[in-house]
Parts: sequence; C-alpha cells; structure tokens
Amino acid sequence: MPPLCFLLLLLLLLGSVSVHAGSAGKGSLSGPEINVTKRFSFPGFSPVGDPGVLHEVKLLGSAMLSAELGAVQIPDVSEGADLRHLAGRALYSFPVRLLDPVTNTPASFETSFSFQFKNDSSVVPEGDGSSTVGHGGSGLTFIMVPDEFTVGRSGPWLGMLNDACDQRYKAVGIEFDTRHNPQFGDPNDNHIGINLGSIVSAKTINASDLGIYLKDGFRHQARIRYDGEKRWMDIHLGSLGKELTLEPAFSGALDLSEFLEEYMFVGFSASTGNLTQIHNVFSWNFTSTSRAFLRMPSAESCEGKIILPSSTATGFAKRRPTSGFFIFVTVVVLILVVIASLFYLRKHKENKSSKAILVEKIKRPIPPNKPRQFTISEISSATRCFSEDEVLGSDSRGTFYRGKLPNGRQVAVKRFSPEFLNANGLDKRQMMKEINAISHVRHPNLVPVRGWCRHKGEIIVVYEFLPNGGLDKWLFGAGVLPWTRRLKIIKDAAEALSFLHLKKLAHKNMRTSSVLLDLTFRAVLGDFGLVLSGSESKRFEAAVSQAVDVFEFGVFILEVVAGRKRLDPDAPQNQIDLLDFMWRMHEVDEKAKAIDRRMGSFMNAEQAIRAMDIGLLCTLNESKGRPSMDQVTELLSMDVPIPELPLSRPMCLFPYSSTTGLCAGYSCAPLR
Ligand SMILES: *[C@@H]1O[C@H](CO)[C@@H](O)[C@H](O)[C@H]1NC(C)=O
Ligand SMILES: *[C@@H]1O[C@H](CO)[C@@H](O)[C@H](O)[C@H]1NC(C)=O
Ligand SMILES: *[C@@H]1O[C@H](CO)[C@@H](O)[C@H](O)[C@H]1NC(C)=O
Ligand SMILES: *[C@@H]1O[C@H](CO)[C@@H](O)[C@H](O)[C@H]1NC(C)=O
Ligand SMILES: *[C@@H]1O[C@H](CO)[C@@H](O)[C@H](O)[C@H]1NC(C)=O
Repeated sequence: MPPLCFLLLLLLLLGSVSVHAGSAGKGSLSGPEINVTKRFSFPGFSPVGDPGVLHEVKLLGSAMLSAELGAVQIPDVSEGADLRHLAGRALYSFPVRLLDPVTNTPASFETSFSFQFKNDSSVVPEGDGSSTVGHGGSGLTFIMVPDEFTVGRSGPWLGMLNDACDQRYKAVGIEFDTRHNPQFGDPNDNHIGINLGSIVSAKTINASDLGIYLKDGFRHQARIRYDGEKRWMDIHLGSLGKELTLEPAFSGALDLSEFLEEYMFVGFSASTGNLTQIHNVFSWNFTSTSRAFLRMPSAESCEGKIILPSSTATGFAKRRPTSGFFIFVTVVVLILVVIASLFYLRKHKENKSSKAILVEKIKRPIPPNKPRQFTISEISSATRCFSEDEVLGSDSRGTFYRGKLPNGRQVAVKRFSPEFLNANGLDKRQMMKEINAISHVRHPNLVPVRGWCRHKGEIIVVYEFLPNGGLDKWLFGAGVLPWTRRLKIIKDAAEALSFLHLKKLAHKNMRTSSVLLDLTFRAVLGDFGLVLSGSESKRFEAAVSQAVDVFEFGVFILEVVAGRKRLDPDAPQNQIDLLDFMWRMHEVDEKAKAIDRRMGSFMNAEQAIRAMDIGLLCTLNESKGRPSMDQVTELLSMDVPIPELPLSRPMCLFPYSSTTGLCAGYSCAPLR
C-alpha cells in the first residue's frame, strides 16, 4: 500500500497543478464582471388592495399595515391605547446586495418615499405641556440592516440600534428625527441625520433651514441618492404638492463601505418614547445596482486545506469555504478513480521497490474536518492563551472561547471548569469515551465536534464555530424573533434530539444557550452535557437521561413561545416560574396570554398554542406520560392530534433522577 500512496500523492500534485493552470489565465480572483440590480416599488401598502404586500413587507416589533390609509404604520395603533416606548420596523422581505466584497465598493442606490407624522389622537396632552405624556415621538429612519428579525430600542434609538456595544453590527440609517436628544448630539427636534453604525449622527441637517417642519402633519417626501463608485450622497426633501427642493438638503462625500455587508435588508424603523407619534409611510421606490465579479475557484485553497492542513496557510483562510469544498469533492472523486485504477494495475505488477521506505516518511493527507486530538499548545495559541477577549460565554460546566486554528478555521473551544471535572463521581476516562462517541455522530442539526484535548486534568472539546451564537441571545435580547423562525428552531432542535435518542445517546444539557444558530439561522444543537453511550450497564441511566432531555425540551418550547427564561425574577409575582405559570394558564384555558406579545399580530396563535401543548406534554411529572422525542417531532409536524393533556398538572410523586439534581415535581427546587 505505501508505494500506492506515493503515486497517489504525485498524481494529486499533478492534478492540483493542472487545476491551477486552468484558472491562471483568468487572473487572481476575479472573473467576468456583471451588474447586480434590484428594483422595487410600493405605490401603496394596502394589504387588501394588494395582498402581495404582506409577502414583500416584513413587519417587526410594533408595526402594522393600515388598509384604511394604505400605509405602513409604526407603532402598531391596533395594539392598545398606550403607544409609548414602542419600536417597530417594516423591511423589504428580501436581502439586497449593497456591497461588493471583492472591491469593497458600496452599491449605488436611489430611494424615494412619502411619509407623514401624525399625533396620536387618543392622547390629550395634560395641562401646561410639562407633563411626560404628550405629542411628538422620536422619528422615522430609512435603514439598511444586516438581518430581518431584530428591532432596535425604542425612544431615541429609533428602533434602529440598541445600546449593546457590538462593533460588528453594521447598519446605515437616514433619520428624520422629531425629538431633541442632546445626549445624542441632536441639534433640535426637526432634523435629518446620517447614522453610520451609531445612533449619534455622523452628519445632521436642520430641516427648519429648508422651510420644512416634519411634525406639521403634512405628507413629506424624501429622496436619497448614493453613488457607490464616487462615494457621494444627495438627500432631497419636499412636502406634498411641492416639488422636492431644488437645493439638496445634503450633498457630500460619504463612504458607506465600512458600514455595509454584502447583503442587507432595507426599510424603515421608527419609535416612540415617553411622547408618542404615529409614523406613516405611504409609498416607497427603491433601486440599487452593484458590480460583481464571478469568482473562479482557486487551486491554492484546495492545497491549503487538503494536503497541508497544519501548515500556516493563513492567506487562504479568508476564501469562501464553498469553493474549497467543491475542489475537495473533485479531489476526492479523483482519488477514488486513482485508487481504483491503481488496484487494477497492481494485479499486473507486483513491484516492491525501495520506494516503500521513502513513503513511510511522507504524511498521509488528513481530511480537513476529521475530529482529532489537539495538543494544549495548539488550543492555547488558537484562543490566544484563553484570552478574556475570546470568551464567548460560560456556565457551571465551563467556559467557551472563540479560537482560530492555523488554517484559519474558526472554532468554539469548551474548557471544562475544574469544579465540574473534580465533582464527585465524574469518571474522566468515561467522559473522554463519550466525547469520542459524540465526535462521530453527524447530523445537520448537531454541531460537529472538531476535536478534543486532554492535558493534566484538563478536558477541552473543540466544536465548529457558529457565528450567530446561542439562541438565548436572540430570544431574550432586544430583538424579536418572528414566530415562523421560532417554530423552525423548535423543529430543528427536536430533530437533533430525536436523532441522538435513536442512537441511544442523550444530550443532557438541553437549554436555549445550547441551541446555536448558523449563518442561515438554522438551529444546531451543541454544548452537549455528557452523552451516555448505550453500553449494557448504562442502559438504565441512558433511559433516565433521555427522559430528562424530553422534560428540558418541553421547558425549551415554552421559553421559545413565551420569549422569556423559565425563571424570571422581574416577572410579576405569580409568573416568576414560567412552567408553573403556563400550567395555570392551561388550567383556565387562557394559554394565549402566555405567548410572547412582542411578536405582534402577524403571528399564528393557533400554531403557538399547539407548540405550547406539546411543551406541556413534555413536562408531565411522570416520565411515563411524556412523549418520546420521536413522537415530539411527529407532533410538531402538525398533522397528528395531540394526546389530551390532564386538566391540571399531577402532583410530584417521586423525584425520579438524583444524578442530575432534576426533580420533575411541581413544588420542587428550580432547575437553573
Ligand atoms: C454596470 O453599470 C455601470 C454603470 O451603470 C456601467 O458603466 C457598466 O458598463 C455596467 N456593466 C455591465 C457589465 O453591464
Ligand atoms: C415611485 O415611482 C413612480 C414611477 O416612477 C412615481 O410615479 C412615484 O411618484 C414614485 N414614488 C415616490 C414616493 O417617489
Ligand atoms: C420623559 O419626558 C420628560 C420631560 O418631557 C423627560 O424629562 C424625561 O427624561 C423623559 N424620559 C423618561 C424616561 O421619563
Ligand atoms: C435651525 O434652523 C432654524 C431656521 O433657520 C433656526 O431658527 C434654528 O436656530 C436652527 N437650529 C439650529 C440648532 O441650528
Ligand atoms: C401635534 O401635537 C403638537 C403638540 O401637542 C402640536 O404642536 C402639533 O401642532 C400637533 N400636530 C398636528 C398635526 O396636529
């Protein structure tokens, strides 16, 4: 076999050289040039007159489509009498290409829209106007943002941003601000601002100078033009009936490239503070064009990833993984063909030459993604000596670090805490066995394990890095995940658990922070507790652990539907324990009250209540009554009737697991 390997390597090299030659003529990275254009127009926003609007406009937070006015309204006036401290967004549902990453050139775009700010007629300003209730909300912003499901904060944040310090959150906004917030550098309560990744405007324009008063109740019109090549912006403002002002409100050089991502969502956000105002957008035109280069696959990234996985080929790391993947597939096919033909050849030629000795020294190619053992120095340099800056999160079991391998691949590194490792009864050898077992389990909804490291009493697991992080951040943060995504996440997580259980394994750490989101917001289960292998002696424990998984999954569903943690000390006294609260709502048949209100009116309450029922079913006291994860996935697919829930939750009879400290009892100690 060794001489075969040598030949194989040679052939591989030859193969990659020819790939290289094939692309050399086309230049380094860029291929033919094309223009990517996007154009859309909303003459009105009536969901009745034009039902397509419902599909093309995504409403987030407190926002609605008014059939009466044919307009987008922020905040959602149908929600209730109190319109204070609300924020909402209305976005075009599909991403728009706003930056060419190869040349770092922003797209050129032009957009115009007509809008109006109205007083909230249900509010009568009290007395002398010094009261905290009154007219004059925060304003409207034309935004370009990286995602289509988060909303910024209300008040001066205009629903555009929140106060979390996240340097990587890219956003551009043109604000029509009607509230004077000196702390954010506002000149007055009637101005336009250009916001680049910050709520403090990079430029402000006094609208009064143009003879326009945004709050006067008339319809206004704005046109924003941007030339991406020249990096130049023009803003025109006008009022209904009048032409746009001849003089631009703003005209100047502006480099947006730093604040844009290749694909972003465009639309409007608005907010109210302790003063209210209704922001209407009546019509909207948008067109953009950006240059793009069709990229040719490069041979080098293939070499870097396949032949020399441990070399310091950092230069290749920034390439998109997909092109590397295609080459990988090609090479694998090539290798198979070569192996087949070599076997054929070998039948004819038995030739054991001295080559064998040579080959022994040549390392066999290691597939890039195969889980392997890491040395502590590899881990240490990947995480920059477990630097504070790289900490992604931590819990009672240990700390997660972000790391970068020498080949440029990002990983998430879990370092178990000494307290956890030294706890009574933890068998480290067994733990390593289990880590080894999970590293061989593959499922699209399970985070791949890249490797492990055991060093002087330390145990470290290396996972693939998922850039969008844990679900808890999205669910309990400032944004609002829409229902459709939440349902998808519940289904994804159920698939993963069901798969693990089928393999006679258990997750044992099922919680919102263990559910990670990939770039497409698919849910991927990670941060396994200890996974139990199904050896004879462990059978019983595995069964118990699976029952615990089901219980925890039930709590997980309830948390996702309610948009809050199981234990929320800030909740009203009788709602602190979500599980308890949900069962009581079930008893009085008012489950709709427990659904996350922030999702607004465009959600499917029937689906949410069904999910809640499944969640409750999973949290029955006695594990016997609970469905298996397999049944849960079936129930979630929405076409099977749900077994009837008991009218009230039966009392806790036995604490059924002492190993996890988990008691399913009604009155027992909280889980987390
Ligand atoms: C793309 O658009 C620019 C400006 O609109 C134009 O000059 C250029 O020729 C276009 N390129 C292609 C390939 O159509
Ligand atoms: C959008 O474009 C149409 C057609 O060019 C035009 O009639 C309309 O006034 C535009 N709307 C706005 C808000 O600029
Ligand atoms: C509300 O309005 C009052 C005066 O109108 C102001 O002093 C106060 O800071 C505002 N904000 C809050 C949160 O009360
Ligand atoms: C804005 O413009 C108006 C009218 O020109 C002027 O009275 C006011 O002082 C200006 N405000 C600021 C902050 O410059
Ligand atoms: C809205 O209310 C403010 C303050 O009460 C007032 O100054 C303004 O004129 C009102 N606007 C309209 C259109 O009624």
